[in-house]
Amino acid sequence: MDAITLLREDHKLLRKLSEELAETTERAVETRKKLLVRLETELKAHTTIEEELFYPALLDASEDIEDARMVAEGIEEHRACDKKVIPDMHHADPGSIAYSGQAKVLKDYIFHHLKEEEEEMFPKARDLIGRKELQDLGERMLARKKELLGEMA
Ligand SMILES: [Fe+2]
Ligand SMILES: [Fe+2]
Repeated sequence: MDAITLLREDHKLLRKLSEELAETTERAVETRKKLLVRLETELKAHTTIEEELFYPALLDASEDIEDARMVAEGIEEHRACDKKVIPDMHHADPGSIAYSGQAKVLKDYIFHHLKEEEEEMFPKARDLIGRKELQDLGERMLARKKELLGEMA
C-alpha cells in the first residue's frame, strides 16, 4: 500500500470515530469515554507517522517555501487536538454540555485538517514523490504504525 493510500484509509476511520463521538449525547457517558480513548489512540498513531515519515519525505522532495508552511500548519493542527482539545476532554465531565461542545469542536478540527491534507498536501506529494518511493514510504509508515499501536495497547 502506498503512503497516501494508507493515510487516506486512516482518515476514513478518524472521520468515522470523531463523527460518532460528536453525535453522542450527555447520557452516553461510557460510550464517550471509550470513543475518546479509541480516537486518541488512532489519531496519535496517524499524526506520528505523518510527522516522523510523511511530512519529512514531502519536505525533502520540495523546494517550495509554501510547502514548508503547509507542513508547519499541519503539525500545529495536530497539536491543537493532541495538546489542547483532547486533554481538555479528559478533564471534563463526559455527562456535561461542555463536553458535547468539545466533541463538536474536535470533530470540526479533524475534518478541517483531513480535508486540507487530502486536497492540498496529498496531490502535492503525488506530484513530487515517485511511485516507488511512495510504496517504500508506505511500508515504513505501516510498520511504524503497528509498532505505535502495539505500544499504546
Ligand atoms: Fe495530519
Ligand atoms: Fe492525516
